[in-house]
Amino acid sequence: MVKVTVLGAAGGIGQPLSLLLKLNPKVDELSLFDVVNVPGVGADLSHISTDAKTDSFLPSSKEDKTALGNALKGSNLVVIPAGVPRKPGMTRDDLFNINASIVRDLSQGIAENAPDALVLVISNPVNSTVPIVAETLKKNGVFNPKKLFGVTTLDIVRANTFLAELFPSEAKPTDFNVRVVGGHSGETIVPLYSVGESKKLYEKLSAEKKKELIHRVQFGGDEVVQAKNGAGSATLSMAYAGYKLAEAIITAQSSSSVVECTFLNLDSSIKGAAEAKKLVKDLDYFSFPVKIGPNGIEEIKYDILNEATEEKQLLDVAIDQLTKNIEKGVAFIKK
Ligand code: NAI
Repeated sequence: MVKVTVLGAAGGIGQPLSLLLKLNPKVDELSLFDVVNVPGVGADLSHISTDAKTDSFLPSSKEDKTALGNALKGSNLVVIPAGVPRKPGMTRDDLFNINASIVRDLSQGIAENAPDALVLVISNPVNSTVPIVAETLKKNGVFNPKKLFGVTTLDIVRANTFLAELFPSEAKPTDFNVRVVGGHSGETIVPLYSVGESKKLYEKLSAEKKKELIHRVQFGGDEVVQAKNGAGSATLSMAYAGYKLAEAIITAQSSSSVVECTFLNLDSSIKGAAEAKKLVKDLDYFSFPVKIGPNGIEEIKYDILNEATEEKQLLDVAIDQLTKNIEKGVAFIKK
């Protein structure tokens, strides 16, 4: 039995993401939680003739914790797209003040009602909200670093698309699976184009074009924020990306393991974490390709950083910025 719970299910990301999860034949139960509008979203999705049983949960007041508890009980996988999105001119860090407490309270609910669930964090700023979830679960004595995933998949999706756009007669986005490491905001996003399937075409680009391409991946979210002109940030592409990671994790529950990039806690209990930490100046969190199995993250594929010599400078900048983002999240819970 696979039960998936979406926290923030009535939002711009939550709705299309829940639709995609409703279509997955491996999902038996789809549980939708939000503080507004979720009964309508749940009723709508429940008419779709796929097997996932759909239920929605709306708290009756700010103090009501029962709805969240009922939504979460028995979940194998919890996806969190709850919180406010960016408006033009905002950075992801500007969202911290509002989203930090939303994510903390939802994590408390997870600790109390679904401590064994795999947790996917979409709410921004991911570089800080993932440490917030980890610290909250630690406080409750239920943290398992193998089960916490910061969702950076949209950066990979963009990296694949933007490279293919530069070579319309030679490539399709699906030809690539660019490994994007670091974090999920601006210069902490480091696409490793010089490694893997993308290498051949990437090498054809001039130094200037390479720089433009990397900048587009790092700040691609701004294109959507500007085009939506105050009506939010990426929702449809994000729902696709969030689903892609969720689907990989669901697949890994029952068959062979898969490899995906995720922003994770480099805890020593995970294979490869000690080596990974050495490569990122001892940071506690970083996005790496990881091998995922039935119980979560099995191994960090850190070696890619040794291969990516061309991106060394970008990595140094990312590491520097991440230190502050991570500390901010940790301090929010420890204070
Ligand atoms: P939205 O405003 O359309 O939806 C957010 C939903 O969260 C709303 O339905 C709202 O009622 C709900 N919510 C607020 N507080 C809640 C709480 N305490 N419990 C449950 N639900 C709650 O925003 P959108 O566009 O869906 O974005 C959501 C988050 O995802 C934002 O923080 C955004 O920055 C982030 N995001 C992350 C990306 C990534 O790559 N990781 C990409 C794009 C957005």
